[in-house]
Amino acid sequence: MESLKQAIRERGNVLSDTVLKVDSFLNHQVDPKLINEIGQAFAERFKNEGITKVLTIESSGIAPSLVVATHLGVPFIFARKKKSLTMTDNVYRSQVYSFTKQETNEITVSKDLLHADDRVLIIDDFLANGQAAFGLCEIVEQAGAQVVGFGIVIEKSFQDGRKKLTDKGYRVESLARIQSFKNGTVQFVDEFVTQLSK
Ligand code: G4P
Repeated sequence: MESLKQAIRERGNVLSDTVLKVDSFLNHQVDPKLINEIGQAFAERFKNEGITKVLTIESSGIAPSLVVATHLGVPFIFARKKKSLTMTDNVYRSQVYSFTKQETNEITVSKDLLHADDRVLIIDDFLANGQAAFGLCEIVEQAGAQVVGFGIVIEKSFQDGRKKLTDKGYRVESLARIQSFKNGTVQFVDEFVTQLSK
């Protein structure tokens, strides 16, 4: 998605060989025009899949999920990392370890919200090692529902999240795929492949 790649190039900040800061448009301040385009792009790709729920994890997955869900005309659910005051113990649970943050979060979704007949699209802002993705899958499985696919805003293709998901047969749609952050610059997968073939 060209407008997203342009935002990453112009407004993103490479912090290290593995981490990209996108606080100015995606996961702290949110650019409403861009997030709307992101949501539309996912909705377009999954519109014929009979999605009944969009599922994400708080906090940065919420903005794109809201837009996708609006365009698909279905509810979206965000898995919570902290127990809410009103949430009972009637929840699906899963443990998500973050390699980036080196911490484990227990994520929960109320059993009232996800059902065996749901067809679920999982959305997240980043895909790195796939820990969050698999945690969300586990929750969908506990509900007896079906994961239809994954919509990822920024995939760090040099980490193995995509491979782990596609090896399990899941459909993964990423709007920007990053080959590397070497020398402080973002190299996208498609541009890398074009360069190789020249
Ligand atoms: P994984 O789920 O694919 O294994 O990824 P990982 O553990 O590495 O990432 C955990 C958290 O770090 C996620 O946020 C993810 O969005 C974020 N993250 C991963 N790589 C990057 C990156 O290059 N840049 C930025 N800005 N964030 C990255 P989270 O724990 O769900 O927190 P939240 O921000 O959604 O609250």
